[in-house]
Amino acid sequence: MPTDEPPATPDPHKTARTYGPEANRYDRRTTAYQRWRDAVVAKLDVGTGDTVLDVGCGTGLCMSALHDKVGPSGTIVGIDASDEMLGLARERATNNDWHNVRLLSASEPAALQDVRADGALFCAVHDVLQSPAVLTQVLEHLRPGAPVAAAGGKRPPIWAWGLRGWIRSLHSPYIDDFTGFDRPWRLLAAHVPDLNVRELAFGTGYLATGHTPAPTP
Ligand SMILES: C[S@@+](CC[C@H](N)C(=O)[O-])C[C@H]1O[C@@H](n2cnc3c(N)ncnc32)[C@H](O)[C@@H]1O
Repeated sequence: MPTDEPPATPDPHKTARTYGPEANRYDRRTTAYQRWRDAVVAKLDVGTGDTVLDVGCGTGLCMSALHDKVGPSGTIVGIDASDEMLGLARERATNNDWHNVRLLSASEPAALQDVRADGALFCAVHDVLQSPAVLTQVLEHLRPGAPVAAAGGKRPPIWAWGLRGWIRSLHSPYIDDFTGFDRPWRLLAAHVPDLNVRELAFGTGYLATGHTPAPTP
């Protein structure tokens, strides 16, 4: 029975099983979403020389836009649970001569240990956003007052109920658990007090931006 309770910490092996077979066709199957990737990166308030976390980076489809923002003096830290997706992200970085990309495996518990980032991107990572444990782990590596941006699909509102089945099937290859699909940003809002959410495309998607709490004076 569906519940609005967050799931337990996601099993990285389950995620690896979801994305392993999907990795090689992921870019082709999700080309239509590239403008939303570019739109969410455009809203992430990071600049030249910054270190940015690309959480659930997948094959690195947000990295070109992130690289444009932080420049060669900045750093992009991509973290993902799937080795196959990370392998393709690594190939992308090599082919583009992006020497400032670090790729980390989420199955390594201390992966982020030495990372201190100026901002974080959560693009199309519903399962990550539904895990309080993963969110806490990731966000504690951001500086106080760091910008955060998230975007992805969501369950259409009641007035667009006719779209619900279609949206769910569109996202089902990429989501392990649809819990929280009404308001995927809900747990992020607890860490990002000024989170501003805009629903897009008849409520089938969203874009959310804000900052981690500022340092106490
Ligand atoms: C739909 S893809 C999005 C990839 C990329 N952000 C994009 O915009 O194309 C979701 C990604 O999240 C990753 N993922 C799922 N759970 C994760 C976790 N707990 N930690 C890190 N990555 C995770 C998956 O392996 C997958 O690559």
